[in-house]
Amino acid sequence: MSDHYQLPPDGLSYETVTQEIDELFAAMTPESSGKLSSTAFWGVSDAYNLSKAVYSKFFSWNALFTFQEAAAAKIENDVLDICISLAGGNADSRGNLTSGGTESNFCALHAMRNWARQTRPDISAPEVVAPYSIHATVHKVAQVLDIKMVTVPQNADLSADVIGIKGAINANTIGIVASAPNWPYGTVDPIAALGKLALTHDLWLHVDACVGAYILPFFRDLGESVPAYDLSVAGVRSLSGDLHKYGYAPKPCSTILWRSVEEQAHHYLPITQWPCGLYLSQGLVGSRPLAPVAAIWALMHYLGRAGYVENARKLLQVRGQIIDKVSLIEGLQTWPTDGPLLQISSNEIDIQLVVGAMGQKGWRLLGVIDPPAIHLTIDVLSEEQLQKFLLDLEESVTDIRSGKSTPEGLLSYGGVGAEESAPKWLQSAVDIFERNGNMTEDH
Ligand SMILES: Cc1ncc(COP(=O)(O)O)c(C=O)c1O
Repeated sequence: MSDHYQLPPDGLSYETVTQEIDELFAAMTPESSGKLSSTAFWGVSDAYNLSKAVYSKFFSWNALFTFQEAAAAKIENDVLDICISLAGGNADSRGNLTSGGTESNFCALHAMRNWARQTRPDISAPEVVAPYSIHATVHKVAQVLDIKMVTVPQNADLSADVIGIKGAINANTIGIVASAPNWPYGTVDPIAALGKLALTHDLWLHVDACVGAYILPFFRDLGESVPAYDLSVAGVRSLSGDLHKYGYAPKPCSTILWRSVEEQAHHYLPITQWPCGLYLSQGLVGSRPLAPVAAIWALMHYLGRAGYVENARKLLQVRGQIIDKVSLIEGLQTWPTDGPLLQISSNEIDIQLVVGAMGQKGWRLLGVIDPPAIHLTIDVLSEEQLQKFLLDLEESVTDIRSGKSTPEGLLSYGGVGAEESAPKWLQSAVDIFERNGNMTEDH
């Protein structure tokens, strides 16, 4: 008998299972505490309750089969039409629903590669150029698609280096990928300039707007200055936007949007060489929950544009209050960003110690390592949660300066480390990499 955990021979009672799972749930950081900096979360509200109720209603529906259900097709069509409009699309623009930013970025690079195979058949070793700040998932999908990622170092102010990107284009380049905003530094890349470059060199420009697509339009409504980034920018052929980030859809829910049907035509993978007729899915995955799409349909209709704008206004207020407070804490500073992400760094103290001290107070913070910073996914916190965060931050810095707080936290994004509490897959991944060499090397 293996030492893997086993299916219980007989079912446990409803009460026992409920009690056990409730205990596990209670042991997790409550999302309502606002302490999960990786999660865009509104707090419990009417909108949250509505989303949950609609999710439960559609709980078991498979979105692979929406072609059989006119009502489900309407839900998907309505959501995608709204997304296309929010992303600066026009009547020719198209969209697909996917499971997340990774899949949306996969679809973009896959279509880009297929387009290049048709339009540039001379290229056998395709390359994509991107700023160093491009999200890890773009590297991942490029590896899967056998596309070489060429990343260009950021300028000294951490912005994308357009001249460097131009210089990295060669005879094998098929496209450029940039972000709105990029995850590490929170700034919107110079999409208009990159669009010009793409048009000049006949390249496919993909914008990873997983974070920004469903919040930046509302920042604009509020008069914030947001650099051009969407499908209305000449040269942009595709844009990924996560509904399960600032759209507030339950996961998994994302979109890949296409400038026109011409781009989308390179996306689909119709399969007929098997016994059951045409197999066609919206994206890479097959079975997909309809529940998050129904939930976002409900949210979009409940909130309307005014509701999303109001949320963006509150979010900007929270961001402003954090920026103001951090400027008063000696040794800490925030970085200028264009969107809802915010970094806190220090020239005086080790920022990992701040993550460690905040970790002891229950804050689950993510980080940037190059250069070191705390990485916040800003969201609407209650006044009480916000004040607690600011107080804990100030206290952490004081304790570090006086030598009272010494644990180092990790500046990371994904899980790294083989702590006993880590899931088994992660422990075994760490084992594999320890055996085979450095985990951080390209493979
Ligand atoms: C800019 C960007 N792209 C892609 C992703 C990947 O999204 P997902 O985790 O939904 O696959 C993220 C996630 O944070 C992101 O910030």
